Amino acid sequence: MAQQYQLPQLPYSLDALEPVISAEIMSLHYNKHHAAYVANLNKALEQYAEAEKKNDLAAMIALQSAIKFNGGGHINHSIFWTNLAPKNAGGGKPPEGTLMTAINTRFGSLEKFIELLSARAVSIQGSGWAWLCYCPVSKLLNVCTCDNQDPLNAKGKIPLLGIDVWEHAYYLQYKNVRADYVKAIWNIINWKNIAERFDAAAGAERFAAAAR
Ligand SMILES: [Fe+2]
Repeated sequence: MAQQYQLPQLPYSLDALEPVISAEIMSLHYNKHHAAYVANLNKALEQYAEAEKKNDLAAMIALQSAIKFNGGGHINHSIFWTNLAPKNAGGGKPPEGTLMTAINTRFGSLEKFIELLSARAVSIQGSGWAWLCYCPVSKLLNVCTCDNQDPLNAKGKIPLLGIDVWEHAYYLQYKNVRADYVKAIWNIINWKNIAERFDAAAGAERFAAAAR
């Protein structure tokens, strides 16, 4: 039997990110969209395991697209929920320490980084994600985008902060003005979570040395 993935626990209540993200959006986004990615991933993996048992290569290949889409959706949203925090739980509080040093070194300032990632998020054509990521080859922070639910890890990058720009993430509240949603989301960014992801990915020592 294939591994069964679970919808992760949301680290706050559905209305905790208001007024930036409404409870209605959160309820649909988490309980319907993310839950559907998990259910469809599990179904595709079951079918894949069956096909593998029968040595049905054509069926295995046909299932890869569903595994990539739904598995990517599960990975991306699991990161996204932890990248956000209610204002009264530190949401929007600027980063400190090694992450802040790395952002200043790479992008000039936090403001310049926010401007850059926002512009990339707004300009994605159709559905996708904008990411702050760490490249283990260059050892640098980078900004990049992915279409649909393509997982960033498949490009060899480690995701730190993702902005979901699928219409399901904002349309009920911000209508067609994606830029307003992207501007508002910085008020609930959980920089503590991103700093932990960065330290885990990069190792804090190199940047701590640079800061001295
Ligand atoms: Fe989403």
